[in-house]
Amino acid sequence: MSDVLSDMLDLATSVMENAYSPYSRFNVGACIRTDKGDYYNGCNVENASYSLTICAERSAIAQMIAAGDTHIRDIVITSSGDETVYPCGACRQMIREFSDAQTHIHCCNKNGIQQSHTIDELLPHSFGSENLK
Ligand code: THU
Repeated sequence: MSDVLSDMLDLATSVMENAYSPYSRFNVGACIRTDKGDYYNGCNVENASYSLTICAERSAIAQMIAAGDTHIRDIVITSSGDETVYPCGACRQMIREFSDAQTHIHCCNKNGIQQSHTIDELLPHSFGSENLK
């Protein structure tokens, strides 16, 4: 694993500790690196009205957008579970909005990064802004 990805995994693991997940007890952390080399982190935020839950990936994307950036170079996702964690369908669509063919989505388990994918691999034949023209 490169130093950059190792740092990103550390950041994702750290922010995961702040997850608000009293209902699922499943903590998720995500770290985005932009083309500029900036990092944005997010964790899942649950709610007693379950469907309002915000996933870690979308939480990190909101941080990136709030800071004025719009392009994901890499995103590392980790969780408190035993299995390698992949972004849910809604998060794949949100990642897709801010990705290109060079963007890599790194999916982890407790032993580190297990799988790295492009968004087209995770969300083939997807819908994007070009479809609205
Ligand atoms: N979760 C994420 O944060 N990201 C995903 O891609 C999958 C699921 C969270 C949402 C919820 O708080 C918990 O994991 C269990 O679904």
